[in-house]
Amino acid sequence: MPFRLLHYSDPHFGAYDPRIAREAAELANKLEPDLTVVSGDFSMRGRRSEFVLAKQWLEKLPEPRLAFPGNHDVPGLNQINDRFFSPFRRFRKFISEVEEPSAKLGDIGSLSTANSSTPFGLHLDWSRGFLNPVQLHAINTFFSDLPEDQLRVFGMHHPVIGAGERAKALVSPMPLVQALFAHARIDLLLAGHLHQSKICLFPESVSNESKPARCTVVSQAPSICSTRLKGEPNGFHLISLLPDEIELELWRWQSDKFLPQTTKTFGRTENGWKPV
Ligand SMILES: [Fe+2]
Ligand SMILES: [Fe+2]
Repeated sequence: MPFRLLHYSDPHFGAYDPRIAREAAELANKLEPDLTVVSGDFSMRGRRSEFVLAKQWLEKLPEPRLAFPGNHDVPGLNQINDRFFSPFRRFRKFISEVEEPSAKLGDIGSLSTANSSTPFGLHLDWSRGFLNPVQLHAINTFFSDLPEDQLRVFGMHHPVIGAGERAKALVSPMPLVQALFAHARIDLLLAGHLHQSKICLFPESVSNESKPARCTVVSQAPSICSTRLKGEPNGFHLISLLPDEIELELWRWQSDKFLPQTTKTFGRTENGWKPV
């Protein structure tokens, strides 16, 4: 039996559709996943009222469930004290006491997460992701301690590389992040942020055939119920995990309900994963 993981992202309470949020919670319970993950951006501007709504919604999702923050879960620049001195206080109070939770995925593998959002940094675009050396080391250690045959699933809000015209590194420092994915032998990344569904491999193309890079499957989930859409409807991914196979099903909001659309399957190889 596969381990079934429900991947929701970017609900954005404060800019959300209440009907779609309600349907998403009801459907999650009908689907009976083994684990539900919400990959950040619970709020719009980090306001208390938004987190109250997010908490009420999150508590309707089936257990076990796991959440980590996104860049919109940090208070805005009009709340400068909170933004710089306790940026994730409300996230910890309303959503999850632990910013970087981990979980066992039955007997098939383990999930580790990182908070890739930061309220400040050297770059001007604060919406971008960042992993510091302590986080990189902790993730590497977590996965290094796992037995060889265990699946390694990693969650962070930012999906490593943007798509299309936004095909740039979304997480810094990219060389270290890339090395982490290879050394920690991460099998699957759960991310969101762009409000667009993308199911792909990272790195996407291997140019040097003599020294192939190790490929990770990326589940970049669309927004589950936000009204801030990027050219596609709300949706989510339902993921089935087997030791040698990862299947990802995209569900989309159509008229008045979520419906399954497309499925992509990846098989394990010596160098990570490839489409089946
Ligand atoms: Fe978002
Ligand atoms: Fe985001």
